[in-house]
Amino acid sequence: MIKFENVSKVYSKDLVAVNNISLEVKKGETLVLLGTSGSGKTTTMRMINKLETPTSGNIYIDDKNIKELDSIELRRKIGYAIQYIGLFNHMSVFENISIVPKLLKWDKDRIKKRIDDLLKIFGFDPDEYKNRFPSQLSGGEKQRIGVLRAIAADPPIILMDEPFGALDPITREQVQNEFIELESDIKKTIVFVTHDVFEAVKMADRIALMDNGKILQIATPKELVNSPKNELVKQFLGRHKFQLSLMTTTIKDLFDKTETETTLSFFKEKNKLTPRSSIIEALDLFKETKKTNLAIFDRKKLCGYLHKKDLLNSISNLLKEKERV
Ligand SMILES: Nc1ncnc2c1ncn2[C@@H]1O[C@H](COP(=O)(O)OP(=O)(O)O)[C@@H](O)[C@H]1O
Ligand SMILES: [Mg+2]
Repeated sequence: MIKFENVSKVYSKDLVAVNNISLEVKKGETLVLLGTSGSGKTTTMRMINKLETPTSGNIYIDDKNIKELDSIELRRKIGYAIQYIGLFNHMSVFENISIVPKLLKWDKDRIKKRIDDLLKIFGFDPDEYKNRFPSQLSGGEKQRIGVLRAIAADPPIILMDEPFGALDPITREQVQNEFIELESDIKKTIVFVTHDVFEAVKMADRIALMDNGKILQIATPKELVNSPKNELVKQFLGRHKFQLSLMTTTIKDLFDKTETETTLSFFKEKNKLTPRSSIIEALDLFKETKKTNLAIFDRKKLCGYLHKKDLLNSISNLLKEKERV
């Protein structure tokens, strides 16, 4: 869907912001560009919607070289959400979200319906919120509206540059979770920039770890954590390694149960895990419910139970593994 071929961006002789990177983002995938400040993430992202021009190399979207595409036309097909330049303060929530649909000349009723639907996604009451101005919103609400604006015209590609970076940790986690849920419905191709390794692991299908304008490794969160390619990657993960392996090890990795049973209890059982739940999520749920075992459901079918004792054993095994390396 998006392809970088030997792309560099050189600002001056001593400042190579992006240094000969090649990568591919698949359709429907969320690729996270992760790296410390100044590693070239924003520049990489801004070349996709032609806010920056590569010094050399080529970028293709759906096999078309973007050099040959009109910038304005291109940007209408690419949603863009960023941390700082959020919403237009003189425009209401409705006006802010409807900018691109209006540019695309959608008719009034279609826009109205779309904005109502969008606001409901994040639990906003449309009548209460659509006429508010940004100054009448909390930080978390503004950031949610920013995300809705980026997806308003249903673009196939969304670029997000530290979109939740300015939020307090609790609001941040809420908005991340809401976005993951939204994303699993709309299945867009997303490029997401962050310097926060935990956010990266949470949001990504794959992570491209950047340093000094180069890509050190591009891999799934689990591969990155379990098989760092070199010393630099190891250093970046550093002291978070154990916590990250708790986040990227799933119930499925621990328990190979195949028995399945169609059951109505899925709807009755409030506290459940899926094979994709992480060890951290399982720990949280044990703590919250004070139960000694939890049901595991795969697509609404009961596939087994996780016992607290087994979970604790596997954590202790993980800990031993980490001590060995
Ligand atoms: N317009 C610009 N002019 C000159 N240097 C720039 C410009 N934009 C970014 N840079 C430099 O390029 C490098 C990469 O920046 P950036 O892509 O913003 O990194 P990140 O998003 O990873 O923090 C930094 O050294 C930054 O100072
Ligand atoms: Mg940046």
